[in-house]
Amino acid sequence: MKLGIICNRVSWEEKKLFKEAQGKNLNVHFIFVDDLQLEIPGSLSYKADETIYLQRAISFFDGFYITAALEGRGERVINSLETAKICGDKILTTINLAGKNIKTPLTFITFNVNSALKSMEKTGFPCIIKPPIGSWGRLVALIKDYESAKVTLEDRETLGNPYQKVFYVQEYIPAGRDIRVFVVGEEVVAAMYRYNAEKDWRSNLAIGGKAVSCKVTSEIEDISLKVTESVKGEIIGVDLIEKDGSMYVQELNHVPQFRGVTEVSGVNVASKIINYILNEVKN
Ligand SMILES: Nc1ncnc2c1ncn2[C@@H]1O[C@H](COP(=O)(O)OP(=O)(O)O)[C@@H](O)[C@H]1O
Ligand SMILES: [Mg+2]
Repeated sequence: MKLGIICNRVSWEEKKLFKEAQGKNLNVHFIFVDDLQLEIPGSLSYKADETIYLQRAISFFDGFYITAALEGRGERVINSLETAKICGDKILTTINLAGKNIKTPLTFITFNVNSALKSMEKTGFPCIIKPPIGSWGRLVALIKDYESAKVTLEDRETLGNPYQKVFYVQEYIPAGRDIRVFVVGEEVVAAMYRYNAEKDWRSNLAIGGKAVSCKVTSEIEDISLKVTESVKGEIIGVDLIEKDGSMYVQELNHVPQFRGVTEVSGVNVASKIINYILNEVKN
């Protein structure tokens, strides 16, 4: 059986997946985003005979359209287009979670500067604005007061792309850390705390957040499996943040990195992923 891993380059994660697949009935083939020419109708830019694909493109848009093209010709891709559509967009994610009665931070979606400012009066300051599509903490901004809100919103309205002009305004939860939970299929395989980066209020490891091992409690397990199922997710990073003794779901990641969580939890996440894929192709 063949597994096509769609990626930008062979990084730590891809090497681990490759290593774990060795000796098992799964040949890994890397498909590089930059090399692809997706002929429609038709083929990829090479003769593909993969049994299943794992989507690991860094850019949401690249991954989304590659998955769409593959699913369009009947291929099986993990995660699916449907999952990517929701998880890749913070607005759709928040709407989906709220519709399932899952706690998420108070959020407003607004379409111009004045409405965003009015929403901020409801969340209070400090609050957060986020681009609907993005990752690694980029352009996720902490807004301390009305004056800085105006400047930031006006900057985005003038300089931003159309997505950045849709303002996702959210209450700030001053937890100092969040919890990244790694779900594979119907199993929570590991979790870690991510403490805020030095001189930053965000916890993304890409900007210096600190990973610390976290016990998977039954509360963490229940909520993570519930939200993963709600987006028909297969390999999902669930971000939780603690507020008043409860867990709030902050976002869902459909192409989660797993180096940090592997290192602090001691769990071989790559092996869990490969075993899940093997099981899927058997069925
Ligand atoms: N409502 C919030 N309250 C407190 N911190 C938050 C909140 N939302 C996001 N953060 C912090 O900002 C980081 C990035 O936000 P997130 O929504 O996960 O965007 P990205 O997709 O860029 O990772 C989070 O990991 C967390 O540390
Ligand atoms: Mg995040």
